Amino acid sequence: MTRVPLDQRLQDVQTRRAVPDDAAEVVRIFRAGFPPSLLPYTIYDQPGIVDYLRGMLRWQHVGTTSVTIVSTYQGKVAAWAQFHRHPTLLFLNHVYVTPEFQGAGLGRVLLRGAIDLVREPGQIYLGSEAFSTNKGAHAWYRSLGMEPSDRVHWVELIPEPVQGRRAWWSFDGLVTGLAAQKRFGFSRILLRTRRTAYVIRTLGRHFYRGNSFDILDDASAMTALHTLDPKRKLMIIASGEGREPRYPIVAQSTQVRGRIDTALTVLGSFPG
Ligand SMILES: CC(C)(COP(=O)(O)OP(=O)(O)OC[C@H]1O[C@@H](n2cnc3c(N)ncnc32)[C@H](O)[C@@H]1OP(=O)(O)O)[C@@H](O)C(=O)NCCC(=O)NCCS
Repeated sequence: MTRVPLDQRLQDVQTRRAVPDDAAEVVRIFRAGFPPSLLPYTIYDQPGIVDYLRGMLRWQHVGTTSVTIVSTYQGKVAAWAQFHRHPTLLFLNHVYVTPEFQGAGLGRVLLRGAIDLVREPGQIYLGSEAFSTNKGAHAWYRSLGMEPSDRVHWVELIPEPVQGRRAWWSFDGLVTGLAAQKRFGFSRILLRTRRTAYVIRTLGRHFYRGNSFDILDDASAMTALHTLDPKRKLMIIASGEGREPRYPIVAQSTQVRGRIDTALTVLGSFPG
């Protein structure tokens, strides 16, 4: 069997933890690679994202949830990956290879270097997620021994206040949230009701973002969101758990999962 010749450029690639000065390039690569119609649903579309990411990168050495790694070619960021750290799971939240490098092996070189840099004892599984229509990414995951697990729905609706019911809620962290909204263009607050607490993000001027469908059946939560800003739509990104969502779907993504050691076996046998 003939081996695909190693892309010569990979000899000059270096993989390292991202630093604050990488923030602008990381954001630029994300914006260029993400579906434009879905960008407003993400923090990467917001005006303060570079400032925010600079802060994240400045602090990631202390043990933040996210860790970002870059691969550079001739000193310029050519690919980056961001992981979410969990006790037994390393979740590849984002991975972006610039178009001129795609298919050349850089994604694998980045992942191998990144796992070496970020993997902690106890982490056995590698997870990730990509839009269900993103055949290239899913082929790449499959080649690393990762299999589809959950289907994630992105739905959008207008929170309607519920009349004539006894609503109770409290916003936790609202003032710091509003300050973050002003500075970065997004925020994270906690909304408590009698039933539970929801993590709610504000994104730009038009959206709230939630991470659970349970909120849809909580009249107090819906009334609270309407009261805070009646013009904001609520975007929920959450696992469908096999059920058909009741609201219009804007996008669907699929989570994948495998073992880190399986991926490392593939990555180790890959030239580069
Ligand atoms: C997905 C991505 C990270 C893969 O990195 P890459 O550097 O392009 O891929 P590599 O060269 O490391 O790996 C190539 C292997 O991946 C698979 N693959 C990657 N892209 C593929 C595509 N478009 N179609 C089919 N297979 C693909 C194949 O198995 C291929 O192996 P082969 O050449 O032996 O057949 C990269 O293409 C990318 O950044 N895409 C755009 C952003 C994105 O979709 N990110 C993932 C969701 S956050």
